[in-house]
Amino acid sequence: MISIETVMKNLTIEEKIGQLMQLAPFFFIGDLKKEVYGPIQALGLKESEVFLSGSVLGIGNASEMKRVQQAYLEKSRHKIPLIFMADIIHGYKTIFPVPLAMAASFNPTLVKKAARISALEAQTAGIHVTFSPMADLSRDPRWGRVVEGFGEDPYLNQVYAKAMVEGYQHDGIDKVGNLASCVKHFAAYGASEAGRDYNTVDLSRLNLHQYYMSGYKAAVEAGARLVMTSFNIVEGIPATQNKYLLRDVLKQDWQFDGVVISDYDSLRQTIEHGTSENDREAAKKAILGGLDIEMATSSYVLNLKSLIESNEVPMALLDDAVYRVLKLKQDLGLFEDPFKGADEIKEKTFVLSDENKKVALEVARESMVLLKNDGILPLKKTQKIALMGEYVALTDTIGPWHWHGRHEDCIPLYEAISEYAKPNLISNQNTLSNLSETEYAGLLDADVVVVAVGEHKIESGEAHSKVNITLKPQDEALIDALYQLGKQVVLVLFHGRPLVLTKVEPKVSAILDTFFLGTMSQQAIAETLFGLNNPSGKLTMSYPRHVGQVPIYYNHLNTGRPFKNDGNPFTSFYLDEQNTPLYPFGFGLSYSSFKLMNLTLSTQKMTEKDTIIVSVDVENTSNIDGYETVQLYIRDYSAEVSRPVQELKQFKKVWVKAHEKVVVSFTISEQDLVYVHSDLSVYADPGKFSIQVGNASNQILKADITRV
Ligand code: GLC
Repeated sequence: MISIETVMKNLTIEEKIGQLMQLAPFFFIGDLKKEVYGPIQALGLKESEVFLSGSVLGIGNASEMKRVQQAYLEKSRHKIPLIFMADIIHGYKTIFPVPLAMAASFNPTLVKKAARISALEAQTAGIHVTFSPMADLSRDPRWGRVVEGFGEDPYLNQVYAKAMVEGYQHDGIDKVGNLASCVKHFAAYGASEAGRDYNTVDLSRLNLHQYYMSGYKAAVEAGARLVMTSFNIVEGIPATQNKYLLRDVLKQDWQFDGVVISDYDSLRQTIEHGTSENDREAAKKAILGGLDIEMATSSYVLNLKSLIESNEVPMALLDDAVYRVLKLKQDLGLFEDPFKGADEIKEKTFVLSDENKKVALEVARESMVLLKNDGILPLKKTQKIALMGEYVALTDTIGPWHWHGRHEDCIPLYEAISEYAKPNLISNQNTLSNLSETEYAGLLDADVVVVAVGEHKIESGEAHSKVNITLKPQDEALIDALYQLGKQVVLVLFHGRPLVLTKVEPKVSAILDTFFLGTMSQQAIAETLFGLNNPSGKLTMSYPRHVGQVPIYYNHLNTGRPFKNDGNPFTSFYLDEQNTPLYPFGFGLSYSSFKLMNLTLSTQKMTEKDTIIVSVDVENTSNIDGYETVQLYIRDYSAEVSRPVQELKQFKKVWVKAHEKVVVSFTISEQDLVYVHSDLSVYADPGKFSIQVGNASNQILKADITRV
């Protein structure tokens, strides 16, 4: 094993600084496809400086990786290999459901499996790092990037961030097939004001730690080797040069010894933020603040040497940053094998294999949420079915951030459905006036109309925020026209964010929420429509009745004048809308019907050393086997700071056979009662707590306990 100290001793200051720059592959080999987009201003780099760079953003395939690495090493004096990084967010080529959908599975083991396969596929192209998991908690569906995260709950953020890091890094990043994980976007990017991407974030340090940090911290504790800074400011200072975030919290309090990388161009953006007068000040504040690698820009390469020579930046900070990068390369085994993982054979045999697609189907099955069903689902093969709406034929259901995934690898929904029943009508139209006479007759004769509509994948994701989060007017009009015709409608939704479904909900018999389920979307949807798959997903974000309610989230504070519907006019409510969401956090139906009863506690009192066993009976009163996710929430009735009316603390997804009953138990310990105090210390206070167990945040059985 080479000694990093020795390597560093032999580096010039320019070579050290070069390790802190990340460029796209086409900077090294001009004819490569520009697969990375973004505002690459003129970087002002000489070719010699390009070839000092330490890492690469994105790569097309194994042979490209080998070409870039080869070309680089031939020109490099120090022969330190490049490290290749990419956005493998929910799959490499076999695309899994978008993270917001995977989170709805309440099955972190399955999500971990998806991350594992994503890593194995990505590594065949010679990729070593993935910019995932995205652990940005968000309470605002206007924000396009909610699609990439796990929703509005700090505990779920923690659970899934951990699961994905473990899936990517598996049994060690030194081994072929495992990726180093980069958790992002540090920190609180999901709190962008008004849900507008890249907008100001302004939240108290208390709320930052109380709600927004859990996912990043869980990822670091799970061993994530990189942390990506977010575009936004935190307490007025851009995260990319925020010493409190990067040095005090991340590197000191959390003992993070990995690499801090900026987001794309986020260092140079500090000039736009108005906290850096120019490139030089941007570089100075960032290295002092704790940033290691600068992505896609050249402030460090163009300024760090003179900052060190003028004693404005200690050499020790540069050495620390370079050490972290070289340690990552060493731990990845790149010094031994600069071409690690790149494998043209495996690219052909393992990537998008039937085995991998089978897992993608399994994940898709558990990521759907049944929002409404008046009994019309599951469909029968003998029924006359009409299919309408653009997603009847549109195969682009792989969602944003699909990297090398291709929607051509999906099949049209009508094809998947035709496996089970021959539709009367197949029309991707969303207006009846476009139907021919025969088509119209087929529609009238149908027992049920499946309407497959929603957002396009480009309506969510980065830089794709929206103020209007209902269905398209023409899709709402189609549903209304079918309703006027007295047709029973099954609405199948495709989207990347919670939608406002208030207008269409009363006019349809069922709503199957599929988000973007990836490569195997259509097969999973068809199986579910015909009952071969019993939907089990639960929402991880609240669905508003109206966008005017946003931000709306389940773990809200009680306020001093909570609405109690008791006629008191001076309480917290709207004159023109209810306070509650149309569909709440934790909600999701099944073809089975479950009854939760007999909430029992082993005791009503506990000290910090005790535990309390909480049990509930879950009965499947239907004749269909199915999963139910039992959720345990707590409420702290009186604390140093105001606490939410409920907070998810544990959950269990259990399989209950038809007409059977199971007992689900949880163990409550001190850890479930702690919270962040105003001085940021974390502990539980003595006092009364409410224990709430249910199959949705608004369907709960309650009992009180006292922590003495
Ligand atoms: C983008 C995104 C970030 C991504 C990075 C590299 O702007 O904000 O999530 O990992 O650039 O593509």
